[in-house]
Amino acid sequence: MIRLVTHYAASYGKPNIIIRHFPDTESYVRLPATSLRGKNIVVYHRLYPEPDKRIFELLLILNTLKKQTKAIDLLIPYLPYARQDRENKSGEAVSADILCGVLKDSGVNNLITYDCHFLPGPGKFKRNGLMIENRSAGKELLAHARKFFKKSEFLVISPDEGSSYFTENAQGHALKKVRRASKATGEKTGIHADIHKIESKADVKGKNICILDDIISTGGTILRAIEHLKEKGAKKIIVGATHGVFAKENIEKHILDRSSGLFVTDSILKNPSISKIKILKLKA
Ligand code: R5P
Repeated sequence: MIRLVTHYAASYGKPNIIIRHFPDTESYVRLPATSLRGKNIVVYHRLYPEPDKRIFELLLILNTLKKQTKAIDLLIPYLPYARQDRENKSGEAVSADILCGVLKDSGVNNLITYDCHFLPGPGKFKRNGLMIENRSAGKELLAHARKFFKKSEFLVISPDEGSSYFTENAQGHALKKVRRASKATGEKTGIHADIHKIESKADVKGKNICILDDIISTGGTILRAIEHLKEKGAKKIIVGATHGVFAKENIEKHILDRSSGLFVTDSILKNPSISKIKILKLKA
């Protein structure tokens, strides 16, 4: 098995795929000069930040490799475009399906990724023809929470049913997100729809809480969850997520101001604006 690593995925091994950019920003890719004919290959790459550019670089890699071997596995810790996983409004592109189809057509046998948004939990799945091994960083996140709370007890809470599998090994609870309907269409399910409120029956009064989610993007979900848990009398709250996208300015600070700790994995190569955020390393 041969490991091919881009510099974006250097945490998984020594980079041996060259990626450069021409002055006009177009991408250039060169695979190692050794013959890869018929070999089993694993490609390690990251697709965030600048997902469009990273995806195109990946397509250059895969389509060059495809000429030499049919056995390509791909490890991408964070799969972007996964949240538009259905057509909410007629005519919308379902980017999750399109990306999976393109990776399959570019020769990927098996995609290994973490806490993929459109999958119900860890395991093996098929999406638009692409085999996906979805791993979860839940164990690593939970281990960090245990270290944080030392011997004190704590309750694990996921902010919605979609990420409730994070609570399964910890006998925790899932909250329920109620989205505000769009004034124009009454649409409630779009990924960018506002969260109106969060509901739950969990008894959190006087308890330490660890909120775990797959992704923090704008941070709206986490902030609402913190607010809800505080209103219900929670004691100390810490927040963990697999993918720290932090798409809104200063969102890390807002979360830290309202909680006792924030931790994410290194699935995304982005230096958080605050050094107080703990980054957990995912192992290959
Ligand atoms: C939702 O289904 C996910 O599990 C996350 O809670 C959500 O995508 C986070 O997005 P944001 O940070 O923008 O609220």
